[in-house]
Amino acid sequence: MHYRRLGRSGLQVSELSLGSWVTYHNQVDTSAATEMLAAAMDAGVNCFDNAEVYASGQSEVVMGQAFKALKWPRLNYIVSTKFFWGLSREGNTINRMDTLNRKYLMQAIDGSLSRMGLDFIDLVYCHRPDPATPIEETVRAMSDMITQGKALYWGTSEWDAGEIRAAWDIAERHHLHKPVMEQPQYHLFHRQRVETEYARLYEDIGLGLTTWSPLASGLLTGKYRDGIPSGSRGAMASMSYLAKSLTDERKRAAVTRLEGIAAELDSSVAQLAIAWVAKNPRVSTVITGASKLAQLQANLGAVDVIAKLTPEVMARIDAISAPLAA
Ligand SMILES: NC(=O)c1ccc[n+]([C@@H]2O[C@H](COP(=O)([O-])OP(=O)(O)OC[C@H]3O[C@@H](n4cnc5c(N)ncnc54)[C@H](OP(=O)(O)O)[C@@H]3O)[C@@H](O)[C@H]2O)c1
Repeated sequence: MHYRRLGRSGLQVSELSLGSWVTYHNQVDTSAATEMLAAAMDAGVNCFDNAEVYASGQSEVVMGQAFKALKWPRLNYIVSTKFFWGLSREGNTINRMDTLNRKYLMQAIDGSLSRMGLDFIDLVYCHRPDPATPIEETVRAMSDMITQGKALYWGTSEWDAGEIRAAWDIAERHHLHKPVMEQPQYHLFHRQRVETEYARLYEDIGLGLTTWSPLASGLLTGKYRDGIPSGSRGAMASMSYLAKSLTDERKRAAVTRLEGIAAELDSSVAQLAIAWVAKNPRVSTVITGASKLAQLQANLGAVDVIAKLTPEVMARIDAISAPLAA
């Protein structure tokens, strides 16, 4: 495992990290999470991603219990969470909508700290942009979380380039803590934002990326070749919105062709897809996901595939995937 700076910050993150969306609480209980976190740490992973909204707060509870069981020195791991959708809506006339207002954010961090049983969270994100709150209000609240010692670095997720730059400029102008990283979707079939829209931000403001869904929710493992297998993410009722993309005929055919390239590299197509994301030097860490220990162990093997992605191999991968990429 190699380590990269999180954008222009001094923080060294492992090139692969592990996230808990969909899995923790629903597919992965505390004991399985503990086992998977331990396996990831053994392989050199130091970065673990979560969000307040995952399993309505229960994903943070599971991860917090696993950290407690593992008794790792706090210096040895980086944990992140994200805010936007909020939890309880009942009787809440203040935050009727998804928000990044100050009242919500200042209480949300306290909720996450309590669910995880931690004194501080390393990385906190604004999980989506909120056009109904002035960016300055959000920037000040995120910066205050850091000043109060409740978080160490802050960033955004799925903000557009203009919003990220506006947040950075406000922080610069007012000497506040600046956003350090963005968490965008990035995989072989989803590229535009990382490769084009954010292009100027990497040098201009030192933006780091912690990218999500390297396997397009599992499509890039080849498991959806003959339809949606039972027990997979695509078969979950709550994930039915993914079905169209997971069963897209052109993408499935592309995955089959990518499997041919992966085989030449003694790799699985999943490892190839994860390595392809990590190959991009703008990516600080690739957040992987797994519902089972065996998946995680297999996916961690992607670190050995990165060096095999020569310009010639990258061009062949591009020829297959780029025409289908959003
Ligand atoms: N900021 C955001 O808005 C945002 C959004 C989404 C995700 N994220 C973060 O990014 C992390 C990763 O996203 P993701 O879970 O969508 O990643 P992904 O790598 O695209 O999908 C992971 C899923 O694919 C399946 N899978 C993984 N490895 C496999 C293998 N070797 N063989 C067969 N199936 C395999 C598993 O699902 P099944 O076994 O259930 O099929 C697993 O849960 C999340 O946990 C979260 O931390 C952030």
